[in-house]
Amino acid sequence: METVGIVGGGYVGLTTAVCLAELGFQIRILDIDERKVASLRAGEAPIYEPGLEDILQKHLASGQIQATTDVTEAMPNADFVFLCVPTPAAADGSADTRYLEAASKDIGPHLKANAIVINKSTVPVGSFQVVADRIGRDDIAVASNPEFLREGTAINDFMNPDRVVIGADDEAIAARVGTLYSKLNAEMVLTDPASAEIIKYASNAYLATRLTFINSIAEVCEALGGDVEQVARGIGLDSRIGSSFLHPGPGWGGSCFPKDTRALTAMAKRSGFDFAFMRGVVHANERHMKRIAAKSLAMLEGMPSESTIGVLGLAFKAGTDDTRQSPAIEVVTALVEEGVKVRAFDPKAHVEIDGLEVVDDAYKVATGADLLIVLTEWPEFAELDPSMLADAMKKPALFDTRDIMPVTDFEAKGFTVRLLGRPSVGELGSLA
Ligand code: UGA
Repeated sequence: METVGIVGGGYVGLTTAVCLAELGFQIRILDIDERKVASLRAGEAPIYEPGLEDILQKHLASGQIQATTDVTEAMPNADFVFLCVPTPAAADGSADTRYLEAASKDIGPHLKANAIVINKSTVPVGSFQVVADRIGRDDIAVASNPEFLREGTAINDFMNPDRVVIGADDEAIAARVGTLYSKLNAEMVLTDPASAEIIKYASNAYLATRLTFINSIAEVCEALGGDVEQVARGIGLDSRIGSSFLHPGPGWGGSCFPKDTRALTAMAKRSGFDFAFMRGVVHANERHMKRIAAKSLAMLEGMPSESTIGVLGLAFKAGTDDTRQSPAIEVVTALVEEGVKVRAFDPKAHVEIDGLEVVDDAYKVATGADLLIVLTEWPEFAELDPSMLADAMKKPALFDTRDIMPVTDFEAKGFTVRLLGRPSVGELGSLA
């Protein structure tokens, strides 16, 4: 059984670790954070990711996964080493490779002869060479193998990939990295390192662009009188377009899209190309989140400073406790700045924002509220009882930015309902 070293026990590293253990490899996780290593050894995942903790515990018990802070324990037996360290955004939006460089330097002297080091983190184009230089050994090959894992479905995405992308200077090295995934029967893209690194940025940038596109079409529908759901269906059936990632929402967020779109424009700028189109997409997303706040304020009958808004959802999407760059947080912050009293509930996410009251029950957000806004698409929100919400509110009004609530039931209980890019049943009724 071959051994795989994983440098960095965060979301990408841990998912890679448990999934490769499932595929039969011995795993050695190396992390500089002693507390994280202690919690991993105790079988506790430091992040919430469905299914991850169970698999971690299974392979800790069998001894197939071990975690350590000691590079001399983790590296010497590893045939492959994945670098899964963070690449946070620097002040100019570019990706900061400080951790990547430090990790490469640390592991260099301890790597097994002829081991292959693989970049899994989203790294600036050219990092492949930076890592090779920091390792500084002729017998060590470096490859790029970007991840396409979504938070909330990361295990399934790893085990059932649409494709596996591997970039290396030498075809034999790329093929050898490919053996890690041979049980998955996935489409393989074996390419050069720069292309592999660009594929990662281009994928996220394209998906973000699609979302901004459909959010903009929602605005067109509002202005001209269409229904964005019908429009999305109508364009999505064109096989050249496809139907996924065409669901309007309060904007795109999370730890990846905002960081990667900015890093891509920063990289392009440094090389002399003004990626104005992509800058426009980022700007349009920021504007869209402000528009959600403005539409919410427009639904209030009283002054913002005399109003209460109940918010359902703080996470950047359902299935995660992650609030990094969450559109919900952007909207809440904008509302608080307008003097609105905001009360929020999220089944998993917790944040502290001045002026925001976070409650532990969805019905509590409705108490005395002038408006309810749905900002994260948690399925359980659709199960809430409209009568109980209406009874608790000052005035029953709902702005469902994710279009997940049973609108007819809400309207039947007297709610005024607003959706993005489509008329609610009540609005259709008034037009009829
Ligand atoms: C994203 C990519 O989807 C993954 O392929 C990639 O590996 C990952 O970034 C990464 O680079 O690590 P993730 O950030 O987990 O994954 O989130 P997504 O599921 O892609 O959602 C991103 C945002 O788009 C969320 O705010 C979500 O609510 C929004 N969204 C998504 C919509 O508003 N509408 C949709 O139809 C889909």
